[in-house]
Amino acid sequence: MPPPSHSIAQRIKKLRDELHEHDYRYYVLAEPTISDEEYDTLMRELHDLEQQHPELQSPDSPTQRVGGQPTKEFGTVVHNPPMLSLANSYSEEEIREFDKRIRGLLGSEQPCYVAELKFDGVAVALKYRDGMFAQGATRGDGTQGDDITANLKTIRSLPLHLRSPEKQYMNIDVRGEAFMHKRDFLEMNKQREAAGDKLFINPRNSTAGTLKLQDPKIVATRPIKLYAYALIAPDARLTSHFKNLDILRSLGLPVNEHTRLCNTIDEVVRFWQEWEAKRDSLPYDIDGVVVKVDSLSQQAKLGSIAKSPRWAIAFKFASRKAETVLNDIILQVGRVGTITPVADLQPVFVGGSTVSRASLYNMDYINELDLRLGDTVIVEKGGDVIPKVSEVVVSKRRKGASPYKMASRCPACNTPLFKPEGEVNYYCENSECPAQVKGRIEHFAMRGAMDIEGLGEAAVEQLVGLGWVKNCADLYSLHTHRAELVGLDRWGEKSAKNLLDAIEESKKRPFHRVLYALGIRHVGQGVAQLLTENFPSIDRLQSASEEDLQSVTGIGPQIAESVAHFFRERHNRDIVKRLKDAGLTLAATATKKKGKLAGLTFVLTGTLPTLSREQAKQLIEENGGKVASGVSKNVQYVLAGEDAGSKLDKAKKLGIPLIDETAFRTLIS
Ligand code: IVH
Repeated sequence: MPPPSHSIAQRIKKLRDELHEHDYRYYVLAEPTISDEEYDTLMRELHDLEQQHPELQSPDSPTQRVGGQPTKEFGTVVHNPPMLSLANSYSEEEIREFDKRIRGLLGSEQPCYVAELKFDGVAVALKYRDGMFAQGATRGDGTQGDDITANLKTIRSLPLHLRSPEKQYMNIDVRGEAFMHKRDFLEMNKQREAAGDKLFINPRNSTAGTLKLQDPKIVATRPIKLYAYALIAPDARLTSHFKNLDILRSLGLPVNEHTRLCNTIDEVVRFWQEWEAKRDSLPYDIDGVVVKVDSLSQQAKLGSIAKSPRWAIAFKFASRKAETVLNDIILQVGRVGTITPVADLQPVFVGGSTVSRASLYNMDYINELDLRLGDTVIVEKGGDVIPKVSEVVVSKRRKGASPYKMASRCPACNTPLFKPEGEVNYYCENSECPAQVKGRIEHFAMRGAMDIEGLGEAAVEQLVGLGWVKNCADLYSLHTHRAELVGLDRWGEKSAKNLLDAIEESKKRPFHRVLYALGIRHVGQGVAQLLTENFPSIDRLQSASEEDLQSVTGIGPQIAESVAHFFRERHNRDIVKRLKDAGLTLAATATKKKGKLAGLTFVLTGTLPTLSREQAKQLIEENGGKVASGVSKNVQYVLAGEDAGSKLDKAKKLGIPLIDETAFRTLIS
C-alpha cells in the first residue's frame, strides 16, 4: 500500500535537508561525511519521489540544480546598489597613499582594513528572498546585468536556501566571484582537446564563457566554484565588513578563508607580499589583494567617486606579461596525431623565469590573433598554466608580414595532414609516425598510467630512435637488449637495471590503469575505471559492441565508437595479446580479491613522509583497496601524515583508526 501523502512530503523534506547538508559539507566545508554512492542513492530516491509527486516539487530542491530549461535570451536584472568596480594600485607607495587619503577623510577616526584575495574570476550578484535563492546575475555594466539564475543554481557550493536564517537575513543581496580551479580548467581543456573542441584560454575566460551558456545542463558539467565577498542587508545593526563575512559563512555561503583584519597599512602590505609569493600554491588564480575599510559607517562616510568606492582598492600583483618577438611556429605531433602549434619566442624574462616557448593551441587561435611570423607579441604567464601568446602588437608589425599558413604535411613523417569536418585540430593519420609512437610510449609510462620510472621523454626518444620500441608491448621485451642498453650513451649498468626493474614492476598495475595507459582516444582515467568495472576482463571489453559499451551510464556514443574502433584494429589486438602474454594485469577482479587490502576503504590526509598522494593511492589500489575522498562510516582507515586537516577530527569522532605511513607499510608488507 502506498504511504499516505503527508509522509511522502515528510520523506521528501528529509531527503532535501540531508542532501543540502551534504552539499554544504562537501562543497563549502570540504568535509564530506558520506560516500558518493550514498549521496547518489539519496538523490535518486528524491528524484523519483518528485517525479511521482510533481505537486511537491520546489525550486530549492537539490534536484533543481540542473532543472532549468535552455533559454534563448537572458532577462535583465537591475543592480541595486550598483556593482562598483575597484580602483587599482600596483605599488607599496600607492597603497600607503590610499591609507593617507582615508585617514585624511576620516579625521580623528582610525581605520581598520580587511585584506582579501582578489579572485581572478567573474563577478556575480545573488539575491535571497524569504531565505531562498531567488535570482543571480552577471555584473554587466554595473547598473544592469544578465539574469543567469539557472546557471548559478548548478554551482554546488551555492546554497539554494540559507542555513538557519535569522529573520533579519531572510532577504539579502550577496556579491561574489565565480571562478574555476586551475586544475579543473586544465582537465576540462584536456577533454576538449581530445574531443576536438575549441580550447579555453584561461580559467577566467572559461568561467565567463560557461556562465553565458544558454543551457544550464551544460553549465552543470563545468567545474564552477564561488566565493561570496560582500553582504548587503537592510539591517542597521551591521557594523563591520569582517563580521559580515562571518554572517555570510553562518548562512552557508562559501567565504574564502584567507582574509585578514589589519590594524595598520603595514599589515596590509605584508599580506600582499605574502600572497604575491604564495599565489601559485593556491588552486585558483588571484591577481592581487583587495583592501577594504572594515567599518560600515566609515565606508558610508567615505562614499564613492564615479564607479569606484573610496573605501576599497585593488592592490594588484606585478604583471606576468612581457613583450617579445615570435621567431617561428613549431608544429608538435601528439600521441593521437593532433597537431599543436607552439610559439618559438625570443627568450624573455617574465613572472620569475625565462620563457621561449608558448602555447598557441590550434589554427583557430592563430587566426583569431592574426599572428604572423616576426610579430611582436605579448606573452602571459599565470600559475601552473603554460605560458601563452595573448596579443599581437600590431603597430610593431614589419611591412609585408603575411598571415601564417598551416603546413600541409606532418613535420615528423611527411604524411599529408587531415582536418575533420567541424573540428579545430589538424591530424597526422599515420599511426606509425615516430612522433606519435613517442607520444604513445610517453603516455603509457606516465604517472597515473603504468608509472614506469626512468622512462621519460629523453629515454623514449632514444629507445624509439634505435627501433627497439615501436609500441608499448615492445617495452616488455626490452630486456633482450640489456647488454646493448648498458653500453649506450647516458646509460650504464645501474640505470639499465633500474629501468628494466621498473618495467617489470609495472606488470602489477591494475587493469584500469593498463587500459588508460593504452591511450585510447576519449578514455581518460575515469572512463577507464568505468569500463573495467563493467567489463572486468580485456576479452569481455574487446568483444563488446558499441551498443554494449553505450549501455553503461557515463559512456556516450563518442567513447563507445572510439573503444570499439581501437579493438577492431588488428594491430591493437596484437599488442594487447603480447601484453597479456607478458603477464600484465588485464582483468579486474583477480587482483582485487587477492589483495591484502581487499574490501578496505582508505582516506588520505596530510603529507606522508615518503609517499606522494598518488603513490599511496596506487599502493592501496594495487593491493585491492579503495580510496575515498571523504571520511564516513564506510571507511576503515585514515592514512594520515603531517598537517592533516579536518578529516582527522572527523575520523576521531567516528572512531575510525588512524594510521601513519609506517603502519600502512606493515599492512601491505
Ligand atoms: S569587492 C565595491 N572583493 O574585482 C567593491 N571584489 O573591480 C566591489 N574581485 O570584478 C568588489 N575578488 O568581482 C571585491 N575579494 C574581492 C574580490 C573582488 C575579486 C573582483 C570583482 C570585480 C573586480 C573589482
